Parts: sequence; structure tokens; C-alpha cells
Amino acid sequence: MTTATAALCHGHGKAFTFEQVQLADLRPDELRVRIVACGICHTDLAVRDGQLPVGLPAILGHEGAGVVEAVGADVTHIAPGDRVVMSFNSCGQCPNCADHAPTYCYDFFAHNWSGARADGTATVRGDGGAQVNANFFGQSAFATHAIATVRNVVKVPESAAAVPLTILAPIGCGLMTGAGAVLRSMKVRADLPIAVFGAGTVGMAAIMAAKIAGAHPIIAVDVNDDRLALARELGATHAFNARAGAIDSIRALCTQGLGYVFDTTGINAVIQDAWNLLAPRGIAGIVGASDPADLLTFNEAAFMGGGRRVMGILGGDSDGEGFLTELIEHHLAGRFPYERLIEVFPFNQIEQAIAASESGKVVKPVLSIGQE
Ligand SMILES: NC(=O)c1ccc[n+]([C@@H]2O[C@H](COP(=O)([O-])OP(=O)(O)OC[C@H]3O[C@@H](n4cnc5c(N)ncnc54)[C@H](O)[C@@H]3O)[C@@H](O)[C@H]2O)c1
Ligand SMILES: [Zn+2]
Ligand SMILES: [Zn+2]
Repeated sequence: MTTATAALCHGHGKAFTFEQVQLADLRPDELRVRIVACGICHTDLAVRDGQLPVGLPAILGHEGAGVVEAVGADVTHIAPGDRVVMSFNSCGQCPNCADHAPTYCYDFFAHNWSGARADGTATVRGDGGAQVNANFFGQSAFATHAIATVRNVVKVPESAAAVPLTILAPIGCGLMTGAGAVLRSMKVRADLPIAVFGAGTVGMAAIMAAKIAGAHPIIAVDVNDDRLALARELGATHAFNARAGAIDSIRALCTQGLGYVFDTTGINAVIQDAWNLLAPRGIAGIVGASDPADLLTFNEAAFMGGGRRVMGILGGDSDGEGFLTELIEHHLAGRFPYERLIEVFPFNQIEQAIAASESGKVVKPVLSIGQE
């Protein structure tokens, strides 16, 4: 057993508490990571607020990076001392995992949101021995140490040895999702217009990726003018405030309709407005967490006629190591300058980091949890 300090989430309106916990002994396919940094993602807050079916209290945090401390007997390609980033977990055996689409793992819930290993055993216990909800996205990295598996840990390539783990940490969720939505899920084509609704981490990553893909124009929509200004610096050719007639402005700009709309807001009305902007064969990609009871309504004739598509997207169709390594290479080459989104906070300022995200001041807060 290993002792760790973890930030426990107790739900909406309640402060995180820092608790001493015990990590289980490693299974053969597991690794113990000393956490150096962890990004805060809107999905952590969606869990805190009861929008996702994760039991509370829980150790959240799913954009962790750190240094491997110990590995199970079957782990061969990663060793103690290696710098790693962590991403979501998956079963490795279902039809989608077999087809290199692990974000759509048939057993996603058990491997990411059940609070324990997929077989129900605890990875974390409190000092008194009671099971603590953990193993969130196969990691629970709002803690000094985490247990992960070979399937959701990626070794940082030698080429990125100089990039701090505070910068690398968030690559395994929101950034991967936005970039992957454009490059892998929707496979955005050059010279077609795209509009991105919501210029947070996911939207900004989509905008940077749309520039890599050569989409044109690249339109950012948000309610926050500072974010719209940053979106323009990162690749958006146009930026419209949703509170100032954005939909009309987009219609005037792209009279033939859009090849792609990408919603990161999860707001029903935004998604439906966005869908109505599509050109024939256009794709509406949807990633935002929304109310579990939400339903969307589309006109069936417009949906069928013109072959328009609505695409639910998880994790940007990332395949794990391959895509994360590709994104790190884009970052090193200056094509994916997502460090512009990051502000680092000390671990004990998790509340301030969350507040900065919720107020819109900081796009991607990253917690500094331990030394490199
Ligand atoms: N599907 C996935 O795999 C996946 C992965 C990561 C995150 N997510 C989800 O994606 C969503 C976006 O995540 P994020 O980290 O970028 O969040 P974020 O809060 O940083 O970004 C959301 C943005 O939407 C803007 N917004 C709010 N109302 C708007 C409106 N009416 N019109 C336009 N913009 C509006 C906000 O100002 C903000 O900039 C969250 O719901 C998150 O849970 C999904
Ligand atoms: Zn699977
Ligand atoms: Zn996330």
C-alpha cells in the first residue's frame, strides 16, 4: 500500500477536502504514477454537479501527468522514472476497442466512472479502510499518487523531454477531444467552412486543429469576448459573440452553408441553431455535457435530404498513444500552441483554479501537484 494525499469532491456547492488515502497494491497491468500536474476539465465539474453518473464523494482529475514510481509484472514498455501522461481507460476487448476506437468502449462506464476497477475492487481506501470512489478515467489524478493501467498511460516521447508536465498534462482529454473531433471524427476537409460553438479548451483545440486541416473560414462563437479574441490568435478567421446575432452573421458569411459545426456548449438551443447552418453533407459534431434528460429535435426532411449528419463524439476518437504522440509533435512544431490556454495553480488552490475556469478567466487551469 502507498499513502497519498487526495482532493475529495463532495458535490455541488461543497468545498474539496484534502484527505490522506491508501493506494492498493498493483495488479500486473497497472502502474503507480507520482502525479506532477493535472488539468481541470469541465467534465470534472459536470461530475461535481451531478450531470454524470459518478458516485460522490470521489477523487476526480483525469488529465494527469507524472513520473512512474512502480509497475506491475506485465508492464514491459514503461519503467519507473518514465514521464507519462494519462488519458481515459478502456477494456481492450470489445468490438470498438478491437477497432482502435477505445473512446467508445462498450464497457466505458466500468473502466472510467464506476469509482473502482472494472471488476469492482477498490484502488483507493480511506485511512479507516473504507473504499473511496476513485479510478476516475482510470486515474483519479487530483492526488499526489494514482494507479493507472498500461492502456491509459502514454510515455512522453524523448522529443518532448524539455516540455514541462504542467503543459503536457491536459493533452489527454479536452485538447485531444477538440483536436480529434476535427482531425479524426469529422475528418474536416480543407477549404470547407467550420463554426465552433464554445471557445473553451475543447473549442480552442478544435480551432487550432481546423487550421491544421486547412478549413476555411474558421468561425468561433462564444459569449466571452476575451475568449473570442484568443480564438482569433489561435486560428479562427472570424469570431462572433453568441449574444450579438452570431447565427445571422454566419449565414451572411457562408451563404452556401457550413461543412461542419462543432458544439462544445451542450446547450440544446445552440446545437439546434448550429445544425440548421449545415450545407448538404455537413456534419454537426457534438461533445458538450448536457442535462441527462435533454432531447434534440431536427427536421427529418433536412436531415435526410442533403445527407446531413449528427455525430456524437467522445474523446475525439483518440486511439490513445498514437494520437497523443501526434498532438505532442504538432505542439513541438508550433502548430498546436495550446500552452496559451494554460494557467498553473498550486494543488491547494483547487477552488481558486475551478473558480477561474467557471468565471471564464482561465481556459485551462492546471494544478501543480508535485515536483518534476
Ligand atoms: N465528449 C467528450 O469527449 C468531452 C471531452 C472533454 C470535455 N467534454 C465536454 O465538452 C464541453 C466543453 O468543455 P470545455 O472544457 O471546453 O468547457 P469550457 O467551459 O471551457 O468551454 C465552454 C465554452 O462555451 C461558452 N459558451 C457558453 N454559453 C455559450 C453559448 N450560448 N454560445 C456559445 N458559447 C457559449 C463558454 O463561454 C465557454 O467558453 C463540456 O461540457 C465538457 O464536459 C466532452
Ligand atoms: Zn472496450
Ligand atoms: Zn475532460
